[in-house]
Order: sequence, then structure tokens, then C-alpha cells
Amino acid sequence: MNIVLMGLPGAGKGTQAEKIVNKYQIPHISTGDMFRAAISQGTELGLKAKSYMDQGALVPDEVTIGIVRERLAQEDCEKGFLLDGFPRTVPQAEALDNILEELGKKIDHVINIQVEKDELVARLSGRRICKTCGATYHVIFNPPKVEGKCDKDGGELYTRADDNPETVANRLEVNMKQAQPLLDFYESKGLLTNINGQQEIEKVFADIDALLSQVSQGSRS
Ligand code: AP5
Repeated sequence: MNIVLMGLPGAGKGTQAEKIVNKYQIPHISTGDMFRAAISQGTELGLKAKSYMDQGALVPDEVTIGIVRERLAQEDCEKGFLLDGFPRTVPQAEALDNILEELGKKIDHVINIQVEKDELVARLSGRRICKTCGATYHVIFNPPKVEGKCDKDGGELYTRADDNPETVANRLEVNMKQAQPLLDFYESKGLLTNINGQQEIEKVFADIDALLSQVSQGSRS
């Protein structure tokens, strides 16, 4: 099953992706995670990406498309994949179609998690992430059992560098501008389903899961 997960910053893509890949056993491909890993390893890609991410801007299409092309060609994507945060622009979506055609694959479905702007700001300002395993929490909406510690491995929780108020405002503005043309692109192909992301985390997952079980059985494109 080849799935694209869309949603504005803070919509819950990472939170839902973790649940989807656990259940459907497909690799999770998050361009944001790939850039953050490159930054922490100090690679050339990381250096390039950092200047854009720090401002809440999009990393240029040619850089982003290149890393996705490489990742999708890897063997573990044979059984399917979940793309999280890519594509984010229509040129990225067109490039993805070309990459998949070269690989003899296609997108089975596109899920867009919908959340209002005020809620997105509240979610991003309270997000905490585990340094060890990357699990995501929220100080109010999804708190860890022990403050500052991951429930899974006791790892220290930190605030992402781009979750400060100025960068969040810019990320939302930049992404909102790109989102509608991209949604129109997939709507016109009959691949898009909007999911109400303003419900409890488990309820959002239940809606996504119901959709994906239809997609995996081939009863829904
Ligand atoms: P990326 O890492 O993809 O960030 P993003 O799109 O801004 O999305 P987030 O990771 O912030 O949010 P999310 O939707 O995953 O929400 P989460 O589940 O964590 O990208 C970072 C940067 O990399 C970009 O700004 C850009 O510079 C660059 N980049 C990446 N891809 C690119 C591309 N394709 N092209 C160009 N540049 C690219 O949840 C958020 C919070 O809400 C958490 O605290 C969580 O616990 C809580 N929460 C989740 N669900 C719920 C719920 N249902 N109710 C209450 N709280 C909830």
C-alpha cells in the first residue's frame, strides 16, 4: 500500500504515521525526519536544509525530491510506504508521479488531516519529543506519565528547534499557501480523503484505519 499523508504543521501527521506503520508494517518516510537526521549528523544535506528549516521555509524542491527519489528506490519500499510531509508543492507531486512511474508503482491513496489554525498553534507550542526514540507528546493534549520523560524508554523530552512562536507562524503561512493547489491536484485524480484531525488521537486513527482497510482490500482507490 503506497500512501501519502498530508496536513499542515501540527495536524498530527507524525503521531498518526507511527500508528499506521505499526499496523500496516510499511516504512515511514518523513522528509522532516530525514532533514533533522542529516542536520544532527552534520552532512552537506543537513547544512543545506537547516537554513530553510530554521526560518520555517520549505527546503528547495530539487533537494527534497532528490532525497525522496533515493529513499523510494530502497528495497523496504517494495511492500509499500507511507510518505509523511512529502509532497508539499505541486512540482513535488508531479516529480513523485514521475519517480513512481520509473519504479513501476503508483499512489494508492492520499490522506489529508484537517485541523484549524488556532489548534495547530496550540499543538506546536506544547509539543515535546523523545531524544532517544522520537516519540511525540504534548504537555496538555498527550502528556507523558512522568513530566519530561518518555513513557517508552525514559528518554529526555525536548522542544523542536522550529517550534518557537516566530518559526511556527512562518511555517503555517508557507504551508497554507502550498496546501490548496496540492489538495486540488489529488482531488482531481480521485485519490484524496480528508480526515477530521480535531478529535482525540485514537479517534483520528480509527477513521484513518477504516479508510486504509478499504484501500488495502482494493475496495477504494
Ligand atoms: P516536518 O517535520 O514534516 O514538520 P511539519 O510539516 O511542520 O509537521 P510537524 O512535524 O510539525 O507536525 P505533525 O503534523 O507531524 O504533528 P505531530 O504529530 O507532531 O517538516 C519540518 C521542516 O522540514 C519544514 O518546515 C520544512 O522546512 C522541511 N520540509 C519537510 N518536508 C518538506 C518538503 N516536502 N518540502 C520542503 N521542505 C520540507 O503533532 C503535533 C502536536 O500535536 C504533538 O504535540 C502531538 O502530541 C499533538 N497532537 C497530535 N494529534 C493530536 C490530536 N488529535 N489532538 C490533540 N493533540 C494532538
